[in-house]
Amino acid sequence: MTASIEIGSGDPTRAALDVLAVCVEEGSLERSPWIGPLETALGGGLVAHGKLVEFTGKADQVLDVSTLGRIKARRVLIVGLGARTKLDAARLRSAVATAVRASAGPGVTRVGIALPADVDWRQVGEAAGLGAYRFVKYFTGDRRPKSELKKIIVFGQGRAGTSARRELALGADIASAVALARDAVNEPPNVLTPEALAQIARRIAKSGKLGLKVLDKRGIRAAGMNLHYAVGQGSAHEPRFIHLSYAPRGAVKRLVFVGKGLTFDSGGLCIKPAAGMGEMKSDMGGAAAVLGLMAAIARLKPRVEVHGIIGAAENMPDGEAYRPADVFKSLSGKTVEIINTDAEGRLVLADALAYAARLEPDLVIDAATLTGAALVALGKTCSAYYATSDDLAQKLEAAARDAGESFWRMPLFDEYAEQLKSDIADFKHTGDRYGGSILAALFLREFVGGFPWIHCDVAGPVLAERARGIYPKGATGHPVLTFVNLVESFAH
Ligand code: BES
Ligand code: MN
Ligand code: ZN
Repeated sequence: MTASIEIGSGDPTRAALDVLAVCVEEGSLERSPWIGPLETALGGGLVAHGKLVEFTGKADQVLDVSTLGRIKARRVLIVGLGARTKLDAARLRSAVATAVRASAGPGVTRVGIALPADVDWRQVGEAAGLGAYRFVKYFTGDRRPKSELKKIIVFGQGRAGTSARRELALGADIASAVALARDAVNEPPNVLTPEALAQIARRIAKSGKLGLKVLDKRGIRAAGMNLHYAVGQGSAHEPRFIHLSYAPRGAVKRLVFVGKGLTFDSGGLCIKPAAGMGEMKSDMGGAAAVLGLMAAIARLKPRVEVHGIIGAAENMPDGEAYRPADVFKSLSGKTVEIINTDAEGRLVLADALAYAARLEPDLVIDAATLTGAALVALGKTCSAYYATSDDLAQKLEAAARDAGESFWRMPLFDEYAEQLKSDIADFKHTGDRYGGSILAALFLREFVGGFPWIHCDVAGPVLAERARGIYPKGATGHPVLTFVNLVESFAH
């Protein structure tokens, strides 16, 4: 069950809560309008205690104090918003999500959050939902959570009307769409097969009234997606091609999102080392983001056409597996010589991008856990992105900034593309070790058909080693929020 989120009225220190979290700007604990009444209700000492333990209110700092029965809530959390001058959408979301996550504990089912002035209620709804996320379905007995968050009550400064409630609910629904992406990534690969991804797409299409086309193994071959077929041919879990579509009347633009959906990447015959192989259950993070986006789009109903395309497969070694030196004809007609079966993502994407190009899009955006090189270049929390124009790059960066997600632009160096020349086919799909993320991007570019394009190598940030801000430990849901913002930036 997911927690319900609602707007509270009256004095939060008197509300029936287990935990009350108060968001305060940096360096202004005593000046926060929530602190005076709280200080009185607790009988004094809160501000003095804050000073003593050096609570300053810097972004996401948390002070957790027991109320010893002086108010209904058993604990009060003071959560930092950082400097007032830097309080933007990302900071607010981060603080609210941190507040919700930090309030979890034995017996905690009702949490109150006292907000700063003039909040955007959609952001509050998003953040509360994002902070409440947990993945606990495989725990039994003692490992099951002792209590579950049931209600999050947010308190604004001043009155909140019906539009505030509507925005809050919208934000909560967007958080659910992000949760859908997180669940898919957290799910183990024996459960989350390519067919299971298709099943999620069917659910989204049904509840959101979206168009849906799913191709099975035979359909993929019949359509001419021989690269996608090749990657999936060594697995007992057969590949799926998935196309969700949202096409409202009067749409002003057509955007096509493409996600890499490798439900497990063992490396195939070029098998990966055992250490860390399990992380490759997240090799469908791009596909999960596309599913989350489409769920959010069904709810937001923007005035743009949005397509969500997923190439789903499992990369396994087997008697039927594809091998280095094989040559296949891609959907685009170009032929590709296989060099390394562990560079499978770009093969699946090549066919999916060629399919996307047939839709004559105004923009193609792909998300893929494509290369370890992106991690080497930018670390674990930032995505490498490529754009075919500066204007597109600016749009993506604005969307990412507002989402509080980290992206850094990388170059498409034409001269590196020489490495992709094959002796017996049009292309090889890998080159030398250096600049690996760039080379993968250059390979993909060959299949986009010259349409405006953004490629996001999300290998790092789809998983987090520890909880921070809007991201929990494990699957983060990156880059769903950025994609939602990007779509909306084309809608007006
Ligand atoms: N899925 C991996 C990329 C990856 C690595 C994602 C680590 C997240 C963490 C991809 O399919 C892969 O194996 N790429 C190879 C390409 C190489 C064989 C050219 C890589 O990056 O090593
Ligand atoms: Mn691989
Ligand atoms: Zn992979």
